[in-house]
Formats: sequence, C-alpha cells, structure tokens
Amino acid sequence: MRAWAPIASSHIAYGALASRIVKASRIEQPTDLDTVRASYDRVADNYVAMNLGDITAYPWLRTAIDGFATAVQGVGPVLDVGCGPGDVTAYLADRGLDVSGVDLSPRMIDHARRRYPGRQFSVASATDLNLADSSLGGILGWWSLFNLPRHVLPQVLNSFARALVPGGHLIIGTHQGDDDLVRTQAYGAVPVTWTTHLWQPEQLWQLLTSAGLSPVADLRLSESVAGVPSLVLVAQRPTT
Ligand SMILES: C[S@@+](CC[C@H](N)C(=O)[O-])C[C@H]1O[C@@H](n2cnc3c(N)ncnc32)[C@H](O)[C@@H]1O
Repeated sequence: MRAWAPIASSHIAYGALASRIVKASRIEQPTDLDTVRASYDRVADNYVAMNLGDITAYPWLRTAIDGFATAVQGVGPVLDVGCGPGDVTAYLADRGLDVSGVDLSPRMIDHARRRYPGRQFSVASATDLNLADSSLGGILGWWSLFNLPRHVLPQVLNSFARALVPGGHLIIGTHQGDDDLVRTQAYGAVPVTWTTHLWQPEQLWQLLTSAGLSPVADLRLSESVAGVPSLVLVAQRPTT
C-alpha cells in the first residue's frame, strides 16, 4: 500500500487542477480522515474487481450523469470529487468534458491512473481542495460525501457553491435515510472503519439552498436500484 503523499505535492503534478486551487484551508478537517483514507485504500482493489463504479450497469444513474454532462458541457471545467477508481470521470471525459478526478485514497487514484491513462487524477480530500471561486462548470460528489461528518458537509457544499461559475452544476449521489451507520466491513468483508451518514433529500436541499444553489433535479432511487434507498440531487449556481 502506498504511503500518503502530501496534498500540496500531489497537486503540483496536475497543472490544470492546481491552477484552480488557492492557498489556506477554510474547512474543518474531519478527525477520522486518516482512518477513512486507510479504509478506502484497503477496499480499493475489491471495489475495482467488483466493478462498482460502472454507471453503465445502472440506467437511472447513467441517465442522471448524462443529464449532468449535457448541462455542464461548455460551461467550464468539471471536478469529480471522490472519484474512486475513475469510472465516472472517464465516462465524462469520453463525452468530451474537461474533467479531472480527485480522491482521498491514494490506492483508488493508483487504480484510476492505471485504468484511464491520460486522464487527470489527484489525491486530496474534499475538505482540503481550497477551490478558487467561480472556477468550475461542474462538480460531482458521486457517492463520495457520505463519510463527511454532518457538521462538515455544509462547509464542503459551501465551498463547492463558491467554486461554481454562475450556471455551473453540482450533482450529488448518496444514500437516503436518517442513520449514522458505523461500518466495520465493506466490499467483500474487507475491514473498514468509517461512518456512513444517511441524508434525507429535504435536509440536503436545505444545505444546498443555504449554500446559494438552486434546485434543478431530484431523483429518488428505490432499494432495488442501488441496494439501499438512494438519492441523486442536482443543483445550480444561479446566473443572476
Ligand atoms: C463509494 S466510493 C465512490 C467512488 C466513485 N465516486 C464511484 O462512483 O465509483 C467513495 C469514494 O469516496 C472517497 N472519499 C471518501 N471521503 C472522501 C473525502 N473526504 N474526500 C475525497 N474523497 C473521499 C473514497 O476514497 C472513495 O473512493
């Protein structure tokens, strides 16, 4: 398993992403970030082997991503936050978008770079991106924000809202519910230590609108689609 690379140095290697990053962190860092990172490093191989990032196997998820891709085409660069092994990033790149992926887990990013050479991937936490204002046409938090502590997610969403250009879109995919599920195994009984925070759509809309974003789309997925009840929400930075 690869050692954790300092975020600053990993950014330097990725010019386009680095140009959209400014100094100084403004978001509280979760206290469990290191254990969450180590857990995703441990599950990364199985996640890839199980092909879990492949949206083409899920028509409703694919449709949502296709709609997002159409909405952000030509609006500005796109950042896939928590990109995992890069499937959605690559899917969007294949559609002609200027997209890069970033993930907390170095092992996930190793897979992304190996599987999609020529695409742009970097290691960093959603809480430590320090995105420049009005620099992105689109942001994805595609099943990658549910480990953020409840009080940290609003800070991250605020940073995303600021980073979008007017007309830019944010898409979130996540599990629906009320609980904070402490997980000790995942993706083939690999030992993990993380909490999955479930959200209700009304709670997320509250956070998104408080961040200054306008609702665009709200898709509720039943357990039969994604294994557990799930949500896809799309919000837009208003143009006026
Ligand atoms: C369920 S996977 C989803 C990966 C990818 N979005 C996909 O759909 O295949 C969750 C991903 O979120 C990443 N993640 C978790 N917390 C993160 C954080 N604070 N910042 C960036 N990525 C994070 C994990 O490393 C993992 O790759």
